[in-house]
Amino acid sequence: MADNFEPRIIAFVCNYCTYAGADLAGTSRLKYPANVRIVRLPCTGRISPLFLLKALQKGADGILVSGCHPGDCHFISGNYHARRRWSIFRTLLDFLGIPKERIWFSWVSASEGRKFADLITEFTENIKQLGPFTQYDKLIKEMSE
Ligand code: FES
Repeated sequence: MADNFEPRIIAFVCNYCTYAGADLAGTSRLKYPANVRIVRLPCTGRISPLFLLKALQKGADGILVSGCHPGDCHFISGNYHARRRWSIFRTLLDFLGIPKERIWFSWVSASEGRKFADLITEFTENIKQLGPFTQYDKLIKEMSE
């Protein structure tokens, strides 16, 4: 892969844990790659699989979904819904031919700024290894034929 490839990563995060963890990473001056664009949502339970597909369609090379640890969701069970949705969505990814390695699911609490920084660093390195995601249009075209 070209050394100068800089992946576009979209992180869908919940407001109460992972967003606060990302904020803590920033205020703690922890370094992590600047490839990530954060989309803040009230809860991971609000994250539709269609958001992820749309991000890939619009040029994302990798997607991170992250929220409160199980048992810590501000809305009690939103992250359990998200986890269940994710396990079904993984099957759809197989069906569509989208590599599962391009989408990570994680729990990061408000006190885990270091974990957030390490997660973004590791994910960015993985996506760099995979290279740009250019197959989306081809996959959709094949599906509609
Ligand atoms: Fe964080 Fe629900 S509020 S996952």
